[in-house]
Amino acid sequence: MFVMHCILFFKVFLFSFPVCVLAQEVFSPKPNQTAYIAASYVKFLEAAGARVVPVMINMTMEEYKTLFSSINGVLYPGGGVSIISSGYQRAAKAFYDLAIEANKQGDYFPVWGTCLGFEQLMYLTSGKSLLSFTNTSGIALPLNFTEGKCSRMFKAFPPELMRALSSEPLTENSHHWSLATLALYTNEELKSFYRVLSTNNDGNVEFVSTVEAYNYPIYGTQWHPEKNAFEWSRPYIPHSPSAVRTTFHMAEFFVGEARKNFHKFPSKEEEDKALIYNYNPVYTGAESAFEQIYLF
Ligand SMILES: *[C@@H]1O[C@H](CO)[C@@H](O)[C@H](O)[C@H]1NC(C)=O
Ligand SMILES: *[C@@H]1O[C@H](CO)[C@@H](O)[C@H](O)[C@H]1NC(C)=O
Ligand SMILES: *[C@@H]1O[C@H](CO)[C@@H](O)[C@H](O)[C@H]1NC(C)=O
Ligand SMILES: *[C@@H]1O[C@H](CO)[C@@H](O)[C@H](O)[C@H]1NC(C)=O
Repeated sequence: MFVMHCILFFKVFLFSFPVCVLAQEVFSPKPNQTAYIAASYVKFLEAAGARVVPVMINMTMEEYKTLFSSINGVLYPGGGVSIISSGYQRAAKAFYDLAIEANKQGDYFPVWGTCLGFEQLMYLTSGKSLLSFTNTSGIALPLNFTEGKCSRMFKAFPPELMRALSSEPLTENSHHWSLATLALYTNEELKSFYRVLSTNNDGNVEFVSTVEAYNYPIYGTQWHPEKNAFEWSRPYIPHSPSAVRTTFHMAEFFVGEARKNFHKFPSKEEEDKALIYNYNPVYTGAESAFEQIYLF
């Protein structure tokens, strides 16, 4: 399934890698401000060499299909919308189904879910809502690695960063809901689909914090790799050198996965029109959890 390295290099220098980030509904919509993307997800991908295309919600399946064949990966960000019925969920399902089908046919299309995106992936894979309430809304934790070294995701991480990740609170958690480790291992679909790479514990429930799919380039973190380098509005976001390196290494891994397919826009004009550069983020730091967001 992996394309050869020499081809990858070729592509790195000659083409851009558009990776999509899903928009989601805003909490209080206004005219022309019905959906948003936190800018930290855009910066996260850009830091590792990708260019970003926003995926609007409420597009038709045909439009999602066309976009799918134009982009190299998709990221489902964190947030607060429904994973069972929302525009975010419908877009996530469209890309998930297309990615599974494409990967089955030998294509290599990566999907990444962060926080809500992680929970969305669990729902899409199992068809069930299996989450438990946990005391994890605003805390940085060290990862309890279960299979870190044997994973695709952490394989190339520097050993000292792995040590820091497992001993220092470098992963920021902002969620009320989690997938208990027990819930994953007692669900056939989830157990056979995802390798658990790390777990965490809120003192009461042990929950899954990082996964990768066994047979698909599908990845999820219940924690926020993008925040360490790019978000400052909460005191529990870690910014130490190891914390910031975590942001970068996670991004580098995922963008590396996106370099392994040949999806592209039919023309440069169409790509230019789709890129996030057409929108300006607004500064929201004083009143929100994000320094900057894009509004659509
Ligand atoms: C919404 O956007 C459209 C197209 O950009 C613009 O013509 C219209 O004035 C905007 N409406 C408001 C209320 O900002
Ligand atoms: C998406 O569609 C739903 C249902 O039709 C509607 O309520 C919502 O306002 C739409 N959101 C956007 C951002 O277009
Ligand atoms: C939740 O966790 C925090 C520490 O992160 C702790 O101070 C607090 O007492 C916990 N709350 C409950 C209800 O367990
Ligand atoms: C790490 O996970 C293992 C396996 O679930 C568990 O036995 C151990 O207690 C966990 N360690 C911490 C610090 O939570």
